[in-house]
Amino acid sequence: MKNLNANSDAIARRYMDSLVIEERLLGAVTPSAKVTFLGREFETPIMTGALSHLKNGMAGYADGARLAGAVACIGMGDNEMLGSCLETGAAVVKIIKPYADRAEIFSRIRFAEEHGALAVGLDSAHAIKPESPAFDTVVGCPMKLPTLDEMKEYIASTKLPFFFKDILSARDAVLAKEIGAAGVIIGHHHDLMHWATPPVYLLREIRKAVGEDFILVADGGIEDGFDAFKALALGADAVSVGRPLMEALNNGGPAGVTDLIREMTAELRAMMVRTGSATLDGIDPAVIRPWGFPE
Ligand SMILES: Cc1cc2nc3c(=O)[nH]c(=O)nc-3n(C[C@H](O)[C@H](O)[C@H](O)COP(=O)(O)O)c2cc1C
Repeated sequence: MKNLNANSDAIARRYMDSLVIEERLLGAVTPSAKVTFLGREFETPIMTGALSHLKNGMAGYADGARLAGAVACIGMGDNEMLGSCLETGAAVVKIIKPYADRAEIFSRIRFAEEHGALAVGLDSAHAIKPESPAFDTVVGCPMKLPTLDEMKEYIASTKLPFFFKDILSARDAVLAKEIGAAGVIIGHHHDLMHWATPPVYLLREIRKAVGEDFILVADGGIEDGFDAFKALALGADAVSVGRPLMEALNNGGPAGVTDLIREMTAELRAMMVRTGSATLDGIDPAVIRPWGFPE
């Protein structure tokens, strides 16, 4: 990539920063950020991003989420790693790499189901290299983009709700719903696709296309509770936060993860009270305004 403007993290940041928020303060009440996610109640819609290979431990990352009353979304790793996260008691969404060896995928789906994970999903974007049409190899493991029939087989192989991660269009979200997914995680996997449409820019359109009964998680570039508010207002049911929580884990261990999720949830609730949003469902998308202030 020669043109640095192609960086999707930077494009998404520019879009996020182009949104401002309308105040609706009079008569506001103390808001709740509790969320029902896959039939369970959580303290916050801010979940961990599906990270992997964390030097301070994946189990600690999941445990930090548990202590904050948040969902722990986790990424690449074997069944032992997944088991260590589940043993903390965290509500785990396990995102599986698109291994070329399909037995690897089925084995992780089965393990997740047998050991009490909340949901599973497929990290769709990592099948393909960012700057070549070839399939990627991740930590020595060959990847491939599953066919639609293979995706249906993965979904049919489990009773667990199934997510597709790294979805970036209404077209793909609708397709994911049609083949039986419970929801999608909307994002570009920190610039795996260059020039990507910002996830938050797409939310309104995707929500309209899939309807209310399909879970949308906004991923990528959520740096604080105010970013989370914008994504939730525009149609996300939850948001996932990766690199900021990785830094929190590095600096403060599991408690660092808990503290940052709580801090971001406080910022989210601060914006909820200022916009007259008593609950997450009660946030009016119309409070999000473009910075350009058109007449
Ligand atoms: C160290 C690291 C490891 C990651 N591992 C995975 C993974 O195994 N599976 C996955 O789906 N995404 C993985 N991701 C991508 C994140 O889930 C997320 O999509 C991305 O970091 C954007 O979110 P952020 O801006 O909040 O960091 C990883 C990201 C980082 C930084």
